[in-house]
Amino acid sequence: MQVLFATSEAAPLIKTGGLADVSGALPVALHKLGVDVRVLLPGYPQVLQALPPMPIVATFSSLFGFPAARLLEGTMPGGVPLWVLDCPDLYQRGGGPYADEKGQDWSDNPRRFGLLSKVAAILGSGESPLNWHPDVVHCNDWQTGLAPAFLKYAPGAARSIMSIHNIAFQGVFPAHWTPELGLPWDSYKAEGAEYYGNLSFLKAGLFFCDHITTVSPTYAREIQTDALGFGMQGLLQHKRDALTGILNGIDYDEWNPATDHHLSAHYDSRNLVGKAANKAELQRRMGLEVNPDIPLFGLVSRFTYQKGIEVFLEIAPQLIDMPAQLVLLGSGDAGIQSWAQELAYRYPGKIGVRVGFDEGLSHLIEAGSDLFMMPSRFEPCGLNQMYSQCYGTPPIVHATGGLLDSVTDCTEATLADGTATGFVIHGLSAATLLATAQHAVDIYRDPATWQALQVNGMTRDFSWSQSAEAYRNVYEKVLGY
Ligand code: ADP
Ligand code: GLC
Repeated sequence: MQVLFATSEAAPLIKTGGLADVSGALPVALHKLGVDVRVLLPGYPQVLQALPPMPIVATFSSLFGFPAARLLEGTMPGGVPLWVLDCPDLYQRGGGPYADEKGQDWSDNPRRFGLLSKVAAILGSGESPLNWHPDVVHCNDWQTGLAPAFLKYAPGAARSIMSIHNIAFQGVFPAHWTPELGLPWDSYKAEGAEYYGNLSFLKAGLFFCDHITTVSPTYAREIQTDALGFGMQGLLQHKRDALTGILNGIDYDEWNPATDHHLSAHYDSRNLVGKAANKAELQRRMGLEVNPDIPLFGLVSRFTYQKGIEVFLEIAPQLIDMPAQLVLLGSGDAGIQSWAQELAYRYPGKIGVRVGFDEGLSHLIEAGSDLFMMPSRFEPCGLNQMYSQCYGTPPIVHATGGLLDSVTDCTEATLADGTATGFVIHGLSAATLLATAQHAVDIYRDPATWQALQVNGMTRDFSWSQSAEAYRNVYEKVLGY
């Protein structure tokens, strides 16, 4: 079976969030199952710099007014074959994959990701210049959402899968982009790519694909509701028989406290001693009082409304009084950034804040914290709560999406049967978050129970192999095997 995995980011080459972790790891897991999977990724400067020079295997000259582009052939660091879509006019610039240095979305994003979608569809159709022909084109989020639409109108087209990593991002642009990107007007209707008078990349993908997946079973149900469907609930209800929720896994080559090169000391579920050295290093690095006994709450996140960070910041003074320490790493919303920095200024030695993206520090926070905070308002899957369980740092999460599917609340019953791994809040507010944090610290003060909770999380299996099998089943289903 041959699968083209089209994505706008893939770790470790280029990453803004969890989509990159998934795109870096799922193809490797599929490869291990014998699926011939190849990744298609835009040629951002970070990608071209990280890889050795690559041969050109195809050229695309002025497709529907797109600038000329070339396909380079290489290999992902995990060993999976890779095609890099090199189009300097669209991808060779500073800033990030979606926005400039100031966080402003690139105004030509429809063209940038229209081209990515178009090339994914060409490679998946009879028009492909290559002699490798995928059976399935696997698209991820709105950036590759037009591919299923292009495939619909292409001769000899592969089947298509649309994976939703976050339905809040939809790629909605003025209608004039429809012909400008080479999509027939026929596709621009309510039963198609049109969304309230605009062109929606995500809706196009959801409507025209053969099967939809999303990144947890709970989120698959939630996106069919008015509360969390972000306008797509009707379409998703209609296609519910072609919608599957598959929980993400974690890449143990990158995230393993026994081998992680970002840590000060290694440890595992049989010997947790090394965790203390990471806590001391984290406290030092973040300018906190170095004290092994004070509970330390960590958070690593995009700073955005989705993540519920303000609720955490709101209760910071009460947490400090417990006493506890807080560490936050992230960037995004300017209001959240300055609120967090203000708190760090007001509570020196007690709250440490780092604004920015720092892969190494994110690993140290997972290892050095005692508790990991993830009070997301909604969370399609979430990876940090899985990393934290694996690092013996029980997470505090809101009962939503993948958080609910991957964390088992600590109760007398779950402690007794050995399944408890963290703390789950039903109904997110400052009061419930504070009460749960207090409960968690009470358990932390009982070393035997605490260690049992840590070990339960560390020995839970979050490997990709099971999820990769579920994806293979979806591919087989759309191919009619
Ligand atoms: P999302 O994709 O919604 O941002 P996930 O939990 O799925 O959320 O994945 C986020 C990924 O990005 C994790 O690997 C997390 O560690 C990483 N991450 C987020 N913010 C930062 C940051 N400021 N520095 C380093 N890594 C970060
Ligand atoms: C999105 C979601 C996150 C998920 C990630 C990878 O960014 O916000 O919950 O884990 O995609 O699927």
